[in-house]
Amino acid sequence: MDKDVVPGIPNGWYAVAWGSDLAPGEVRRIYYFEEEMVLFRTRTGRARVLSAFCPHLGAHLAEGGRVVGESIRCPFHAWQYDGANGKCVEIPYCERIPTNARVRAWEVVERNGMIFVWHHAEQKPSDWEVPEIAQFSDPEWSEARTFEIEVPIHMQDMAENNLDPVHFEVVHTSPKVPETEIEFAEDGRFMHAVSYSEEETPFGTFKMSLLRDSWCLGMSSVESSGIPGVGLYMFSSTSPIDRHNTVSRWAMTATRNRVDTAGEDWFKGITSGVDDDLRIWGNKIHRPNPVFCEADKLLVEFRRWVQQFYSEPVN
Ligand code: FES
Ligand SMILES: [Fe+2]
Repeated sequence: MDKDVVPGIPNGWYAVAWGSDLAPGEVRRIYYFEEEMVLFRTRTGRARVLSAFCPHLGAHLAEGGRVVGESIRCPFHAWQYDGANGKCVEIPYCERIPTNARVRAWEVVERNGMIFVWHHAEQKPSDWEVPEIAQFSDPEWSEARTFEIEVPIHMQDMAENNLDPVHFEVVHTSPKVPETEIEFAEDGRFMHAVSYSEEETPFGTFKMSLLRDSWCLGMSSVESSGIPGVGLYMFSSTSPIDRHNTVSRWAMTATRNRVDTAGEDWFKGITSGVDDDLRIWGNKIHRPNPVFCEADKLLVEFRRWVQQFYSEPVN
């Protein structure tokens, strides 16, 4: 089968945990981008991510490692690594610390209720920031409702749904294929897509627009507008575990005035909609060179857009 012809791991910021799941002093083993890592929260509350294996004798720092102040202590011989830069700061039974006693420190940012890690195949530093989503701190909007799903698929194939209007009609049995327009910004990295449709709601029939922003392959938002005075918003981060498995985390919010009605219906609609996709996603193969028909213009655009996120890994 084509199982091995999948693309690599695209470059970008990826959520690896919910911020509220990690208390100060907590240590978590995580595996993303085909890398073993340790995630922990320091005593002052900073989320940190280091490569997992101790440079000494190779113990996994998350398997019994402990947070000590701003660093993590290896479970094997108690060497301590600073969470900010991965440098060994203490060997309890030795005065001199070898200069190469250091693990890789990953760039981490906590935002929108999620802990993000920067991945770049060439290990280049981040060159853009995770956006701060205003809705999550706006008192007019509800507490975020969260949703998480793991799917055995390459993340690119999952993201491709966004520019696949035909599947909405076939898979999700939407009434008709919505008209979709796309625009690119910020050197072409940022993509904005919008579709219009007419929808019946308990409050009447409205001309709705579905706005989808993508900051990279794997970070996007969906905003539905058209019901007067009602806001519906979802932010998502989709992270590659490896080239065949993906985790997607969604944070959804609605304006408080209609969160119990339009909001709940919308949250339910998008989370149950994913069930329809699962059978396709969980069983498809990746086609590096699909046969496209004339009407597949958006899919062709998508495939062109994603290319910028890949680079050759260094080793
Ligand atoms: S293996 Fe980590 S301190 Fe020895
Ligand atoms: Fe879908």
